[in-house]
Amino acid sequence: MSSNSPSNESTWTGYLHGRRVILGVSGSIAAYKAALLARALVARGADVTTVLTEAATRFIAPLTFEALTQNKAYTDADLWTGPGVLHVELARNADLVLIAPATQDLLARVAAGRANDLLSLVVAEFSGPVGLCPAMHTAMWESRATQDAVHRLQSFGYQVLAPDSGPLASGDEGSGRLPEMQVILDFAEGLLAPKDLAGLRVMVTAGPTREPIDPVRMLTNPSSGKMGFALAREAYLRGGSVNLILGPVHDQPPAFIEVKHVQTALDMADAVNRDIHETDVLLMCAAVVDFAPVNSTDTKIEKDGFDDVLRLKRNPDILSGVTAMEKRPFVVGFAAQTDLLLEKARKKMQKKHPDLLFANLVGRGRVFGRDVAAGLLLRPDGSHTEVTVRPKRAVARLILDEVKKGLK
Ligand code: CTP
Repeated sequence: MSSNSPSNESTWTGYLHGRRVILGVSGSIAAYKAALLARALVARGADVTTVLTEAATRFIAPLTFEALTQNKAYTDADLWTGPGVLHVELARNADLVLIAPATQDLLARVAAGRANDLLSLVVAEFSGPVGLCPAMHTAMWESRATQDAVHRLQSFGYQVLAPDSGPLASGDEGSGRLPEMQVILDFAEGLLAPKDLAGLRVMVTAGPTREPIDPVRMLTNPSSGKMGFALAREAYLRGGSVNLILGPVHDQPPAFIEVKHVQTALDMADAVNRDIHETDVLLMCAAVVDFAPVNSTDTKIEKDGFDDVLRLKRNPDILSGVTAMEKRPFVVGFAAQTDLLLEKARKKMQKKHPDLLFANLVGRGRVFGRDVAAGLLLRPDGSHTEVTVRPKRAVARLILDEVKKGLK
């Protein structure tokens, strides 16, 4: 199966889409979380087959995984029962082996090259990407034996996701927790994504800015930052190094991305200009507020004393500032319009000179805060591509594909 077929373009939600994943589960108390992981992988379009170690079956039943994945879940009891060689069949029909949770024993066995149960046999047989998500008590995680095993596994080319810190099953606090679901999903996607943006330094601006009138009032807009997050995630998964400059939003940015938080358009301009000379691609996705109050006060303005006039000054145009630079990165602009999309987008292209412009319709419940987007992708030669409604992840992929073409 391929994640890149044009037929699934408009529903594509990431690199797990249409991929065959072996979910390995070993015997940790965190094994119950593997059921939620199986479900989340399926929700992202993966075809999931579960392999449980003997110890894992004491924490959670194979039947749970069979119900959630609609595929048989295998245990050691299935070894040497069929006409074929099970571990060879499973390895041959997989795109990714993801082991979550991975116990100290599992890590040690795989690191030592042991193949003494179905799961370790599958890993030994598999030549594609392998990701391991350790979960155990802090002392075990930090032990010399586990750390040596992790280094050895990494030297095989396997990826090991560092566990989180927090409350553990023993009642202690420390590192060793299985990370949040979204972190594991991103980790899995990173193992499947092409690394065609490796070496590129990508700056993404996202979210709105806030222009304070007084300490309790402000000018802003409803940008959610989701399109910027989709771009940052996509660029990162494809190997880019990502610098995300983020205005105030409610949603959490992708966990693995370095974020610089800003409030006002002036803060954002400073953050952009500080790093712009170490940037290859600028994705100027933020909904920068164009005006700021002339006099922002430190104390709350009383209604009675207010003369009903709010005087505004223009904020700098960050994108135009960058495209005017002598040595400039590849710049993608974003235009939010309420009407006359193509006409206004063309004018914006001529006025601001980005190397690409993604224009979308906003207003009346469209785009802001939603997980899907649609619009037009314009190039400086006047040509454009219509982007039909699809998940923002899919829009991000398409934009970065165009960036890659433009950089050549
Ligand atoms: N932009 C910017 N600095 C600003 C305003 C906008 O860098 N002060 C960038 C946005 O991040 C976006 C592009 O310019 O990439 C177009 O933003 P948009 O708000 O649609 O354009 P404006 O120039 O503000 O046009 P309008 O007059 O339609 O508000």
